Amino acid sequence: MIERVKSGISGLDEILNGGFIKGSNVLLAGSAGTGKTIFCMQFLYQGVVKYNEPGIFVTLEEMPAELRREALLFGWDFKKLEDEKKFAIVDAASSKAGLPTGERFALRRGFDVNILAQEIYRTAKEIDAKRIVIDSIAGLGIQFEGTANIRTAIFRLSALLREIKCTSIMTSEVAVGEVFTRYGVEEFIAQGVVLLFLEEISGELRRSLIVRKMRGTAHSLRRYPFEISPEKGFVVMPGGEI
Ligand SMILES: Nc1ncnc2c1ncn2[C@@H]1O[C@H](COP(=O)(O)OP(=O)(O)OP(=O)(O)O)[C@@H](O)[C@H]1O
Ligand SMILES: [Mg+2]
Repeated sequence: MIERVKSGISGLDEILNGGFIKGSNVLLAGSAGTGKTIFCMQFLYQGVVKYNEPGIFVTLEEMPAELRREALLFGWDFKKLEDEKKFAIVDAASSKAGLPTGERFALRRGFDVNILAQEIYRTAKEIDAKRIVIDSIAGLGIQFEGTANIRTAIFRLSALLREIKCTSIMTSEVAVGEVFTRYGVEEFIAQGVVLLFLEEISGELRRSLIVRKMRGTAHSLRRYPFEISPEKGFVVMPGGEI
């Protein structure tokens, strides 16, 4: 019997036949503004409050203060969960931007993927994390010369995520109209791939989602509409039409 983890995303677990596979690494890919960060925040927040699974948000792009502020718009109080030691943000964004950080979990001496891995490991032990998000893999890119080094970094991080036995999500960017991710390895390394779309249909932008791959389980292959709202967060409509 495969152990499942509820995604915390309304409507998604039915499409996945019960949820993500426990301990698996899922790639969440989509172009800018498709909802990747919100999906990840909801996965972690609901993970703590509904399923009692502590979580870590590793941010490579947005500053932790921005994330906390955005989350609050949906009623997700990360600060409270951090004080309760059930949630942590690892700040890898400041070091990348060359800025100082007052965060408790952060890279302080410049950006380096091995140091990032150590910091994730340390944080995971400290809060006994069961869920981890890395947002985004694209954020690793500018530190490296050449695709080979970026791929090595992605392998390194995905191996770590597997080792600490957390159910994890990595986000990556896909150019509009494309199905392949920027470095072309993320979708092969990950056990699951979920694609988010924001496309114009008869003069209006519509959001939709496809589960492209989920190793070890059956899943729906349909395209589903989803919505983002401050009241309900990220909601997939399993019965909906595009
Ligand atoms: N409070 C909110 N209520 C409703 N919709 C929102 C709210 N906040 C953001 N959105 C929608 O979600 C989009 C941004 O989502 P998100 O930041 O998760 O995207 P992303 O895929 O992470 O983008 P990027 O690749 O730029 O990081 C916004 O463009 C907006 O359409
Ligand atoms: Mg984002």
